[in-house]
Amino acid sequence: MKLYADSASVAAVVPLLHDGLVRGVTTNPSILARDGLGAADLPRLYDEFSAAGADEIFLQATGDSRAALFDDASRIAGFGHRVVVKVPATPDGFRVAHDLMAHDVRVLLTAVYSLAQATFAASLGVDYIAPYFGRLVDSGEDGLSKVSNMTTVLASTRTRVLVASVRSPNAAATLALNGVSHITADVPVLLAMMVDPVTEQSALEFERVAAGG
Ligand code: G3P
Repeated sequence: MKLYADSASVAAVVPLLHDGLVRGVTTNPSILARDGLGAADLPRLYDEFSAAGADEIFLQATGDSRAALFDDASRIAGFGHRVVVKVPATPDGFRVAHDLMAHDVRVLLTAVYSLAQATFAASLGVDYIAPYFGRLVDSGEDGLSKVSNMTTVLASTRTRVLVASVRSPNAAATLALNGVSHITADVPVLLAMMVDPVTEQSALEFERVAAGG
């Protein structure tokens, strides 16, 4: 099991990395915008997350054509060896993913919504796909079966399913129960995953007893 922070907030993510609680960080243009950041901030974010101990830093390329997307992805790949470049799973994105892999760049195809896209991504041999669990459910799909089917189909391939848009501890646990081994979630969700009221109560009792109370 590997957990990642889906956030561009240095203040929120760096403490988790320092404490060794997550393996890395995932971002996209919407996540950057949420923190008032943009593409120009990516080199600094890479350096900060890298220095804090991230194994993998997922940064998304943008571009309104195949050439522009490839150029931006190549720029991002140049930040350092911890980068995994995210590319949207569009027809151009699949082509760019192939071209990047030919240059030994690690690639995640993002916003994967169908099993057909997942199958195609695995045929290319990309490192990761990212289905958006919460958004699948929002659109009326059975998100759990869909993600679970992707996990089954890709199990014998090198492509891993890193599920995003995971909005609660329960969603993360349910995904894990259904075979998902890579999850990215916003920091409040990750922090909430460590907490259970019964555990808190038990911990308080241990302290009281240990103190002779
Ligand atoms: O990384 C996926 C994330 O940006 C989408 O999450 O909760 O807005 O669907 P959400």
